[in-house]
Amino acid sequence: MIPINELARGYRLYKEEYDKKAIEVLESGWYVLGKEVEAFEKEYSEKLGEDVFTAGVDNGLNAIRLGLYAAGIGPGDEVIVQANGYIATMLGITQNGATPVFCESDSYHNMDPDRIEEHITDKTKAVLVTHLYGMATRMEKILEICEKHGLMLFEDCAQSHFSSYKGRYTGLFGKASFFSFYPTKNLGCFGDGGAVVSHDKDFIQRVKTLRNYGSDRRYHNVELGFNSRLDEMQAGLLRVRLSHWDTYVGNRKKIAERYLSGITNPLITLPKIPEGTDPVWYLFVINVDDQAGFREYMTGKGIQTDVSFPMPPYMQPALEYLGLGRGSNPYAEHDCDTVVSLPMMDHMDDSEIDEVIAAVNDYKG
Ligand SMILES: Cc1ncc(COP(=O)(O)O)c(C=O)c1O
Repeated sequence: MIPINELARGYRLYKEEYDKKAIEVLESGWYVLGKEVEAFEKEYSEKLGEDVFTAGVDNGLNAIRLGLYAAGIGPGDEVIVQANGYIATMLGITQNGATPVFCESDSYHNMDPDRIEEHITDKTKAVLVTHLYGMATRMEKILEICEKHGLMLFEDCAQSHFSSYKGRYTGLFGKASFFSFYPTKNLGCFGDGGAVVSHDKDFIQRVKTLRNYGSDRRYHNVELGFNSRLDEMQAGLLRVRLSHWDTYVGNRKKIAERYLSGITNPLITLPKIPEGTDPVWYLFVINVDDQAGFREYMTGKGIQTDVSFPMPPYMQPALEYLGLGRGSNPYAEHDCDTVVSLPMMDHMDDSEIDEVIAAVNDYKG
């Protein structure tokens, strides 16, 4: 069976370095917030290439939660998000007492910039875009809208580390951006991890205070904070992965290029790449009318597929209270009904890629 992803392949590419770093951290006797976290934060900011600051936190959800909290998003506020996102983005909003407002998505699986303004009310405080599947959102109009209406812009970059729009990395466009380092992510660690990034040094300092019980120094609590710390093991291992970023992302790009040029079946819609973007292929997502039938067919061929995500978050029971149901965002709902992810991971043999392409091309519907 060709798996949709096999995380250990990424580990094996640089096993010796990961093992060495893990032992180094174990022997250091210091395990939560320390020199590895500080070094990672510095290296991550540098790699993003602008004058930005990074606060490592315990996961992507808490990056969103703390980031929005530090920006003053709270009860009564509305935050515009895209209809086909992931529940974690919504939880980062609801856990601050604010309300997610869903904007229709576009043919690139991202927020449709032309549909944002219809959702702006006097309660709207921010737009939070998610660069889904590693494909950057078309940012120009969104920047204009935020400027025009005085809205804060945030980016959920959990799936888009170092993917770029018109030469600028995602995560650099707004007030702050939120990253996940969950193991499946392109920059994944070996447990949970996340980060908040911003050009605003004071803002990041506040996130660092908030992540550690609201303490600005030991036993001195300036506000009611959280426990959302990144640990030394994850930070150390993330540094190893970051140092080999070009290999990891290069492998994904090669796989995607092979799929894009090799898959010719008219029953399959290949991912569209917005002009000026450089996708990092967190997932390789096609659209096919008979989602379930296609998946069953692929399983029969020994190839695992996935659906990410099977429904917009507002159709989940947990968000029923928003009063939105099927029909609220027909484009996003149709997308969820037809998306299928093909195998995409840190390394695939040419023969595996060939097998996937041949199976997809043989699909008769
Ligand atoms: C778009 C998006 N946002 C947020 C998250 C949350 O990240 P984490 O799992 O690290 O909490 C994820 C991943 O799970 C995600 O895909």
